[in-house]
Formats: sequence, structure tokens, C-alpha cells
Amino acid sequence: MGAPFVTFEGIEGSGKTTQVRLLSEYLAGKGIPHLVTREPGGTPIANEIRSLLLSPREEPVFPETELLLYEAARAQHVRSVILPAMASGTAVLCDRFCDATTAYQGFSRGIDGARIEWLNAFAAAGLVPGLTVLLDIPPGEGLARVSSRGFRLDRLEGESPRFHQSVREGYLRLCAQHPERFARIDGRLPVDDIARAVRTAVSTRFGW
Ligand code: TMP
Repeated sequence: MGAPFVTFEGIEGSGKTTQVRLLSEYLAGKGIPHLVTREPGGTPIANEIRSLLLSPREEPVFPETELLLYEAARAQHVRSVILPAMASGTAVLCDRFCDATTAYQGFSRGIDGARIEWLNAFAAAGLVPGLTVLLDIPPGEGLARVSSRGFRLDRLEGESPRFHQSVREGYLRLCAQHPERFARIDGRLPVDDIARAVRTAVSTRFGW
């Protein structure tokens, strides 16, 4: 199966990106070989799909189109970056993965869960993370953080508060369904407390 694969999930503004960076710094300090990547993205083709997906546009994007684009980016990313890294003994920290598709395109956009599960497994070549860190935060707080960054909101960030609430509920449902894989951490805690909880989760799971 190769080196560990850890994913980070949460709604917009939950602090995933910061925590991925802090965990990476911690692992680097311990000399643990690892790679940081994200979805959608991680390869030139997947990055082009990312900009297709996230830039606000006039033409309406149908949920089915959105779903297939996320899966296409994933198929490329898994095969060209994640699996080769794991096979060579490099651990992978990934900012979002299949659970994001289940939460966003399934719970929020309303696409049937069985189809999403099938497509996730197909795109990810059956790869399932050894640990998924869920940073849980109420949408109001997450979106306030995103707005305070002062950048124009992307297509998904600009969705309604109700949309983001269902994404959060979707993640909590996934967490309840897979307690052996998920570590849920309160995203409202101070950054250092979250980082400590993340380290505890990874050392319990992988002995890091
Ligand atoms: P990011 O801004 O956290 O990098 O994530 C990109 C956006 O794409 C974010 O709004 C979540 C969304 N997303 C999905 O809707 N489905 C997916 O499968 C993935 C990976 C991300």
C-alpha cells in the first residue's frame, strides 16, 4: 500500500491550508519524507481544470459537469502524483480529496450518493486515505474568514450560506459513517491547539 496518505477536509475558511502547512513543517523537522498537494490541482492539467471550476463565469455550470470535472482532475492527480509518491515511500498530505466531492456535489448539489461513490473510486483508483482530518467550523465563521482575506470570492465560495451549511452537514455525516478514518477537530480552536490535535491524530495512526 506504500507510505501514508492523509487528507484534510472542511468548508471554506476552516483553516485546512494552514494546518497542512504546519503538519508539513512538523514532518520536515522529523525528517519524514512527504509531499503536499491539493485537489483540484497537483498537476498542470488538474490545475487547468481547477481554474475552469473555480473562476466565476457567465455560463451556468451544471452539477453533473462540475462533478465530472472534479473527478477528471482527480484521475490525473492520483495517477501522476499521489500513487507514485506513495509507492516510493513518500507520505502524501492532500488538501481535499473524495470526501469533498461527496459533501459538495452530493450533499449540497444533490447528486445521488451511489453515483458519486462509484465515480470517486473510479477516479481515485480505489485509493482511500489512511486518515482524514476534518476541520469543523460553522459556515458563518468560515465565510467571514474568507471575506476578510479581501480577494474576490471564487465560484464555490460565492454560493449561498445554505449551500455551505449542507456541505458542513455532509462532512459531519461522513465523519459519523467512517469514525475509523476521520479525526474531527473544532476549527474554532486556536491554530496551535489544532496543530497539536492534528499531530496527535497522525502519531496515533502512523506512529509519526
Ligand atoms: P479549495 O479552495 O479549498 O482549494 O477548494 C476548492 C473548491 O472546490 C472548494 O470550494 C471546494 C470545492 N471542491 C468540490 O466542490 N468538490 C471536490 O471534489 C473538491 C476536491 C473541491
